[in-house]
Amino acid sequence: MEIDAAGLIYFSPTHTTRRILAAIAEGLGAAGECQVDLTPPAAEGQSFSAGVWDIALIGAPVYAGRLPAMMVSRFRRLEGQGTPAVIVVVYGNRAYDDALLELRDLAVAVGFQPIAAGAFIGEHSYSAVGAPIAVGRPDAMDLAKARAFGGAVRKKVTVLPSAAGLAPLSVPGNFPYKEHPQLPATAPVVDQTRCTACGQCVALCPTGAIPQDDPAVAEKGRCIRCCACIKGCPAGARTMDDPRIRQVTEYLRQTCGDRKEPETYL
Ligand SMILES: Cc1cc2nc3c(=O)[nH]c(=O)nc-3n(C[C@H](O)[C@H](O)[C@H](O)COP(=O)(O)O)c2cc1C
Repeated sequence: MEIDAAGLIYFSPTHTTRRILAAIAEGLGAAGECQVDLTPPAAEGQSFSAGVWDIALIGAPVYAGRLPAMMVSRFRRLEGQGTPAVIVVVYGNRAYDDALLELRDLAVAVGFQPIAAGAFIGEHSYSAVGAPIAVGRPDAMDLAKARAFGGAVRKKVTVLPSAAGLAPLSVPGNFPYKEHPQLPATAPVVDQTRCTACGQCVALCPTGAIPQDDPAVAEKGRCIRCCACIKGCPAGARTMDDPRIRQVTEYLRQTCGDRKEPETYL
């Protein structure tokens, strides 16, 4: 199989998943690259056919041991058309539980053929000054491993006449998947003395929960707690002030300090 055109499909509010996919793509060395970003609200309702690619790299963050529900609904509008796929989850140094299995099943359901998989580590969305969790990841070592993984995928597929005869890819995880937790509605709060109303948060929010005319009032019912607006605010004006989230963050800080390493499945 030749690998000329690669498609990168991802949901990545705080960009760690996107960075891992970019490093894998670099190692894969495809000549042409197309990006399908499922993160912004504009991705809602868009359909896309992968038939023009030789390979797809599909990435998602882990939310409570699963895929983000919003990523799943947006992804379902894609058509895989038998395209071989590398599936990747990125998690915040706790665990990825059933997310990689869910991504494999989802990719198959829309017509991709998963041929390789990886679980990588990214700075936890909830990580903050005073509560660091996997800060700075993916770091240089993670990105080197992602590039090496891309190279190994290239080696695997270029010797094959086609991906058709490959055995189904086996990945860790359980079915039925972990239940999605029922979470009370919440959203980051804004320090009005710092906010300059630059609008960056409005553009970064995957759900359109932050109104352009008043960025201080994020709609709690639409917030998915991805923390894109917090990490992307140039003035540091947004924080997650909810005591329940602060408690979870502190628990993660205390229990997820040991560095986990990327795992790959070929
Ligand atoms: C709502 C929510 C739930 C999360 N659940 C988990 C989890 O179960 N395990 C884990 O290790 N990290 C978890 N994380 C952390 C993210 O998986 C991690 O920060 C990831 O790198 C974010 O990807 P992104 O930068 O592409 O948005 C969670 C983050 C959020 C916002």
